[in-house]
Amino acid sequence: MAKKLYIKTYGCQMNVYDSVRMTDALAPMGYEPVETPEGADMIILNTCHIREKASEKVFSELGKLRKLKESREQQGGEMLIGVAGCVAQAEGEEIVRRAPSVDLVFGPQTYHRLPEMVSRALGDENRGGVIDTDFPVESKFDFLPEESGSQGPTAFLSVQEGCDKFCTFCVVPYTRGAEFSRPVEDIIREARTLAASGTREITLLGQNVNAYHGETSNGKTWGLGRLLLELAEIDGLERLRYTTSHPRDMEDELIQAHKAEKVMPYLHLPVQAGSDRILEMMNRKHTADDYRRVIDKLREARPDLALSGDFIVGFPGESDRDFADTIRLVTDVNYAQAYSFKYSPRPGTPAAGIADQIPEEVKSQRLAMLQELLNAQQVAFNQSCVGKTFNILFDRKGKHEGQLIGRSPFMQSVFAEAPDRLLGNSIDVRIDRALANSLAGTVVTTGIESPAAASA
Ligand code: 5AD
Ligand code: SF4
Repeated sequence: MAKKLYIKTYGCQMNVYDSVRMTDALAPMGYEPVETPEGADMIILNTCHIREKASEKVFSELGKLRKLKESREQQGGEMLIGVAGCVAQAEGEEIVRRAPSVDLVFGPQTYHRLPEMVSRALGDENRGGVIDTDFPVESKFDFLPEESGSQGPTAFLSVQEGCDKFCTFCVVPYTRGAEFSRPVEDIIREARTLAASGTREITLLGQNVNAYHGETSNGKTWGLGRLLLELAEIDGLERLRYTTSHPRDMEDELIQAHKAEKVMPYLHLPVQAGSDRILEMMNRKHTADDYRRVIDKLREARPDLALSGDFIVGFPGESDRDFADTIRLVTDVNYAQAYSFKYSPRPGTPAAGIADQIPEEVKSQRLAMLQELLNAQQVAFNQSCVGKTFNILFDRKGKHEGQLIGRSPFMQSVFAEAPDRLLGNSIDVRIDRALANSLAGTVVTTGIESPAAASA
């Protein structure tokens, strides 16, 4: 009988992707994914360590799961609990000490060893936890089952992992390790498999995806721009995206690749702050004007490009004047969408040790001001879409019967009345209304005619 596997995913899209691959890795052992933890034979929390709040969520969830595990054991059943991802990498054995009900702890680079770890955890001699937070010499990509092609109309494809940038606030270089790019041919093969299974949109993933420099079989090295253009040649693939990027790695070849129709006119390009003094302390290795110049070049290549970013307020030493520089940069760039956070000191990172930490109230005030501006920009952008017709790739059903939801080229969620047969298709939709976080529209052409539609 199939065993039930429940994976709860926190944090970034890389984790979402990793969860899919863990599911694939466990399938040969008879595990099938389920939607709720109740009755599961194995539960994996795929965790995020980027800010304190994200880490703490894991321990509160583990408290709840312990009860579930105990009641299952009282009924004579068994449940394995695993902690994966960046909290696992950062805290290792500490997790089992704080939460003894955890059977498995494994970092982002070792989930190809999952079947073996699970077998060990199921053996009685290993009660007390199987822990694997290595950075192995072998690449997990060489050992995982091939991409199963089961992701649906939109899919993630990991092309790069890790980060060598060492921004002083960030745990990623420690939890995900050094930068690594997958070989070009592996990526192309996986993209073809996805396209053949009905995927229309692929988002290339990497912690620092635009630092991609993959080898080809004939010894060449390709950047992300070259890779995108090659992927654009694959039949069936209609849309390409990539996330997330660093301004320093925005090379000309990549900027020019934005002219390609299949490369979607939306880019997440975090800048974090607008003050050169703070950028320097963050070790970002660029100035605010460097960033402005990159944006100008991108908009020259792709005038309709919509931008998204990440911001941190209250980095140690941030003065009112520094913060005003951030507001000025946001005003200059004009974002379609953005994420903003209060600085959260992370153990082991250089910035956590800076004496001049900013009081919580100041962080909160600055965050509120910044978010007001970013929200106003998002609302204005969404409003500017009303009356326009966008190509929408319907990728899921809406809340209401007869409704489908998809993404616009600019990453907005768009919903419209549409028959289920349009799921997985790119359809022209006229935007009627802008809501807080989505757009409502009307299908103008179905693009594909079915006998039912023809006779209607
Ligand atoms: N505190 C607050 N925000 C952080 N980020 C990364 N580390 C921290 C931290 N210590 C934010 C950055 C990054 C995003 C993924 O999370 O803005 O781009
Ligand atoms: Fe973290 Fe991104 Fe800086 Fe790398 S480039 S250290 S992932 S914020």
